[in-house]
Amino acid sequence: MRRGPRGPHLTRRGFLGALATAAGTTVLPGCGALGLDTPPGQTGEALLSARPLPAPYRVPLPRPHTARPTGTVTLPDGTAADLYEITQRAADVEILPGVRTTIWGYDGTLPGPTLETRTGRPVVVRHRNELLVPTVTHLHGGHTPADSDGWPLDLLLPVGGGPPGHHGMPGDLAVGTRDHHYPMTQRAATLWYHDHRMDFTGPAVYRGLLGLHLVRDPEEDALPLPRGDREIPLVLCDRSFDADGQFAYPSLDRSLRRVPGVEAGWTEGVLGDVVLVNGAPWPVAEVDAVRHRLRILNGANARRFALAFQVAGGPDLPVTQIGSDGGLLAAPVERPTVELAPGERCDVVVDLGRVPVDTEVTVVNLLGTGSTRDVLRFRVVRATRDDSAVPAVLSEIEPLVPGPVRREFVFRRGAVADHAGWTINDRSFDPDVPLADVPLGATETWRFRTDVHHPVHLHLDPVQVLARGGRGPGPSDAGWKDTVDLRPGEIVDVAVRFTDHAGRFVLHCHNLEHEDMAMMATIRTVANGA
Ligand code: C2O
Ligand code: CU
Ligand code: CU
Repeated sequence: MRRGPRGPHLTRRGFLGALATAAGTTVLPGCGALGLDTPPGQTGEALLSARPLPAPYRVPLPRPHTARPTGTVTLPDGTAADLYEITQRAADVEILPGVRTTIWGYDGTLPGPTLETRTGRPVVVRHRNELLVPTVTHLHGGHTPADSDGWPLDLLLPVGGGPPGHHGMPGDLAVGTRDHHYPMTQRAATLWYHDHRMDFTGPAVYRGLLGLHLVRDPEEDALPLPRGDREIPLVLCDRSFDADGQFAYPSLDRSLRRVPGVEAGWTEGVLGDVVLVNGAPWPVAEVDAVRHRLRILNGANARRFALAFQVAGGPDLPVTQIGSDGGLLAAPVERPTVELAPGERCDVVVDLGRVPVDTEVTVVNLLGTGSTRDVLRFRVVRATRDDSAVPAVLSEIEPLVPGPVRREFVFRRGAVADHAGWTINDRSFDPDVPLADVPLGATETWRFRTDVHHPVHLHLDPVQVLARGGRGPGPSDAGWKDTVDLRPGEIVDVAVRFTDHAGRFVLHCHNLEHEDMAMMATIRTVANGA
């Protein structure tokens, strides 16, 4: 059964009490009988909106706006960096037609502004926190020094200060603003940034703290790929709404300060019933009948996607994958569907010139049911010239050559303190005790094992998938990966090589409810000879 959000005044004690006395009858607003509601292909539980949902494909696909540098700063080593300034603040926006929803957004938008930076040109992103709680900003996929990476305890306290919250062992505290230095010593890729505060990442990202960061480089510029209007970022996520049109999220502690985690019904992950693309519910885009490049991010807390491009009365359109988390693949790969676990990115080219003008191409999630099967629609409106092409060779990828399995990480359910949670090697997140000390420059093989779905994400450097379930890499493992989709009971081996930056980083599950309920580990990279 699906469940609706609880009323705003029910405490956790009240909630558990209600469950105990109700014994399966309906006592909570919008609530059905007890029991798991895990759709196939998902780890998570559906949360039903308490409002009627709008019909799909009525609102235009928005494009996140692009951030512009506000100046230049000189780094300690004398080099110049472009400065970007982003304010984290609440804003009232119209997501469902006719209702205002209060979001937390970078510059007050969902998704936040897209940064477009260039390989080899360092940037400083100055974040200002005008929210009511501390935040931590992480650049996902960034090759970033530890002090700018968004260590989950490097809190940025709101302007004007305020208590850090329950965190017993804060890292580097800042008040009001914090500068993140990104050297951009990495190839072109689709990165994203999002909140990463220990124990409260799920609710903060759900409220809107996520955005894209595209890195561009001359190698990619030289390819005849679709560009300009024909390069479309698609940030996918899912949300549920309460009766007032606010985001419903079953936090144990609505203040997001003290008690981490979600109510017992959603510890597997929160699945919303409204699919947002670039912040709009099931939008539609009018496009020319030409190739388009789609940079797709799964920015959902827990929902997995398997996207198919359906054409009424005809076969599905195939998609050509050209890149993954860490940038271009060596060569394009034709795929019938695009699978994305939370945190993963897929860069594809779809030839909308293969269907006649006036055709609708509907992108559906084969892992969705009911309202979550719909995602977005393209309406092909004009025939026009297409100068783009997908070359047979895109890039060169150095294969990592590792030795035998060096470390194993087991991702599974387990007790965290005295309550149910998620663990890595039977341990809950301990910022002070690394699960591994890894020498910089060494190539190692790591083995991941799981119970249910866990999208495993590693900071600092991307990995290469060597084997999945005793076979070679699967279709979504191509290229450089920073997030690896592990399905129930799967064993995946990856080649890992950290470079340049010594310090503390994290390895964690990117199901944000799992992450907040302690499925994270400290990894320490160590300079050679140290
Ligand atoms: Cu996208 Cu450590 O996170
Ligand atoms: Cu990351
Ligand atoms: Cu997980």
